[in-house]
Amino acid sequence: MQFSLIIPTLNEASNINPLLNSLFALDCLGDQFEVIIVDDGSTDGTPEKVKSWEATHNVRLIERHAEPDLTASILEGVAAARHPVIAVMDADLSHPSDRLAALVQPIVDGSHDVVVGSRYIPGGGTENWPFYREWLSRAGGLLARAICDVNDATSGFFAFRRALATHIPNNARGYKILLELLMAGQGQLRVKEIPICFRDRTRGTSKLSFSHNLIFLQRLIALAGGTVSIRTASRFAVVGFLGVFVDVLIYQWMISQGSGLALAHISSFIAAATFNYTLNSKWSFRLHHPGHLRWSQFIRFLTVGLFALLLRGGVLAWLVYGWGVGSEWAIFPAIIAAAGVNYLGSAFYVFPKADPPVPLHIRWRTAAIGIVGFVILLRLVYMGVAQLIPDEAYYWQYTQHMDLSFFDHPPMVAWLIWLGTTLAGQNEFGVRIGAFVCGLVAMGYLYALACNLYDKSTGMRSVLLLAVLPFGFATGLAMTPDAPLIAAWVATLYYMERTLLAGQTGRAWIGMGIAFGLGILSKYTLGLLGIAALIFALLDPLARRWLSRPHPYLAALLALVLFSPVIIWNMENNWASFLFQTDRIGGPQPVFSTHKLILYIAIVLTPVGLAAALLALRTLVSDPSQASRKRLFIGVFTGVPLLFFIAVSTFDAPRFHWNSPLWLALIPTMAWMLGQNNTHPKVAHALRAAWQPTLILLLLAYAFVLHYVALGIPGLPYRFLSEHYFWKETTAEVEKIALDIEHQTGQSPIIVGMSKWSIASALAFYQRSDPPLEIRSRNLFGVPAAMYDFWHPSATPSTRPILMIGMKRRTLELDQADGNIGHMLQEPTEIGARTIYRQDGVPLRTLYYRTASGYLGHTAATPVTPSQE
Ligand code: GDD
Ligand code: MN
Repeated sequence: MQFSLIIPTLNEASNINPLLNSLFALDCLGDQFEVIIVDDGSTDGTPEKVKSWEATHNVRLIERHAEPDLTASILEGVAAARHPVIAVMDADLSHPSDRLAALVQPIVDGSHDVVVGSRYIPGGGTENWPFYREWLSRAGGLLARAICDVNDATSGFFAFRRALATHIPNNARGYKILLELLMAGQGQLRVKEIPICFRDRTRGTSKLSFSHNLIFLQRLIALAGGTVSIRTASRFAVVGFLGVFVDVLIYQWMISQGSGLALAHISSFIAAATFNYTLNSKWSFRLHHPGHLRWSQFIRFLTVGLFALLLRGGVLAWLVYGWGVGSEWAIFPAIIAAAGVNYLGSAFYVFPKADPPVPLHIRWRTAAIGIVGFVILLRLVYMGVAQLIPDEAYYWQYTQHMDLSFFDHPPMVAWLIWLGTTLAGQNEFGVRIGAFVCGLVAMGYLYALACNLYDKSTGMRSVLLLAVLPFGFATGLAMTPDAPLIAAWVATLYYMERTLLAGQTGRAWIGMGIAFGLGILSKYTLGLLGIAALIFALLDPLARRWLSRPHPYLAALLALVLFSPVIIWNMENNWASFLFQTDRIGGPQPVFSTHKLILYIAIVLTPVGLAAALLALRTLVSDPSQASRKRLFIGVFTGVPLLFFIAVSTFDAPRFHWNSPLWLALIPTMAWMLGQNNTHPKVAHALRAAWQPTLILLLLAYAFVLHYVALGIPGLPYRFLSEHYFWKETTAEVEKIALDIEHQTGQSPIIVGMSKWSIASALAFYQRSDPPLEIRSRNLFGVPAAMYDFWHPSATPSTRPILMIGMKRRTLELDQADGNIGHMLQEPTEIGARTIYRQDGVPLRTLYYRTASGYLGHTAATPVTPSQE
């Protein structure tokens, strides 16, 4: 075979003879290859050893005298090579020379451009490597895989067409020339990986040092589109350090003057950020961006600053409110978190690398990693500080009455909350941790699904969309049945694609059974995927064959077994939840609501998302460049649930979030289109342009809302929807009123939440009284109230005082739309109102209440009509 083998050396004297002996002993290579040894000024006699081979064998020595560098050495070897096929290997016998023929062959026969000897594919491996080296290598490989799709992009054993070397940028340095080669190919290369076993050297020492790792990291960031050098990073650190002083001084001063946490940390942040930006743009990043301040750049800077600020508020609140850390100490970790966001934002977004341009799909990957990371951090930080919304409190209330299932929902949400609060305590974090984990699971399965349907770049963009689109962001944070539903829905889709489209047997079917079973334990809508699967199997001849095999039936059986708790509960409770669900759909008079459905879709997806979804559906119908089975799969799994919701909307009003999961099947296509910058019409182009601001604005909105509810925003009072929120402080006030009543009457009152289930649940979660308050819901007055009908069925008369709690004044009127409650109360008082304040004196909301000296019992005379919460 004709090829040039390049072997870089630095003090490898003891390895030269064994290496060259083994190479020239190989029959399979023939004698047409040349060996070029590039030595970087070894002092142990390596060059002399090599020279002794030059006379008798096709071996050449190149001696460099510049600063030693592996990449530069290899490039010099390439320049001197006689053959158009190049192979590179280490001198220390780590690489198996008997794999050389397999390495070179695909280049010689023209079928591939690059062949990699890979440790990290089946059949490959490492031997005798110390644990930390293995770990380091794997960590580096993982980072590299974010931007490069080769399993072992840091391998030192590879072959390529010589012409490719001209694309390697001049500033490439260090050990990872293969990564440079692959990235310079911009995804156009035909790459093959062959398994090799890497053996640690037995003679001499490794030259890989800590600084090589730093260089690797730096090159990786540059290849991903960031500006990072030791110089900018250290300057940034110096500026940041000075900024901390500005920040902390102003913060501490304001706290000492009695201002609230939010005002203090926001003011000091703005001062420090102005200070930092001035120094960073004039000094730290100046080399990379000479010239004066540009507005677009300044706006980007402000955006990054805002993200950092809103995140740091969460860290602060978490430490101060959640852990009781003094606010004077909590500011330091908060500053560190903000600095991390600021630095990465500066390097990748404010001052990105301009030259050479980074390809679009790599930019999207970097954006996806950054944004998804930020979303996860944001959830983690705020999850435990933001108070529960009433819905979450209601599902928590389920866990106080644990059961196999519940009247208005299947049990998964309750089981997850039970698990979370058992592990992490009866607090917001414990309630929400299940939703957080479900969010991660959904991301993982969506990534895998999109990789299978399209490619890795699309996979990463899909996760980005899921993380930022309203329904995706919310379900990974708020603990409602939709959290496990979304996760199970994607998982089911993933397994259905594996079985029905990719034709996998065995494990994938088991996975499908489990995902489906857990899915209907979360919410019954998941059943729509079963119908979609059946329709797909009927339409697709390849998938149809499964119908005559046992797999689908066994998977269905598995799902049924998982679902059995719901069936058992219903058998014991007169099929209550099934009746409730069918009731819900077939309301008394049909109301046409399709326009509402469209509005709701625009809410869960945003209008830009809705437009993207429509466009994606159109491509599925008409784009022949995508495989037709794949298009059918996505079309059916989106179309069937969509048509179902449209059909229902013609006679019944949907809740706004019901349609959410159906978009999961379409997100990969939407994400795929996001990265296509050719051949598509103007609309598609405009849409791609609209995505960037949409994603940023959404993310800012989430961070803003979380900061607002947890710490407040100075100058912005609480008004919007706040009567539904802040139950922690409100409950404390209710407990005070209850105590007053007890002092006056000698009896503790029965508390009645005057809503279907919101108020009673929120009060139950936040009450701290000992013994606990006795809390009822509005069903005391004969109005249906979901699970409260089971927990506290209509009560008998009582002489204990009654304390009714309302979010709005009108819910306490004696004569209500549902009927008159006045005659069920003994001596009702007038409606009282109290303003609820936060600890620091900020007004939060108003609490309405009314008392009575006794409850006369609920008279069935009042008409009972179901009412929506
Ligand atoms: N010319 C030249 N100049 N050669 C060098 C230099 C240099 O500055 N530094 C190292 N070498 C040579 C060594 O003499 C050896 O032949 C080869 O490059 C690999 O160096 P090692 O010091 O043995 O590296 P390693 O075993 O730690 O790293 C190997 O595995 C890494 C993957 O984890 C190499 O194959 C790396 O390329 C690979 O990334
Ligand atoms: Mn080595």
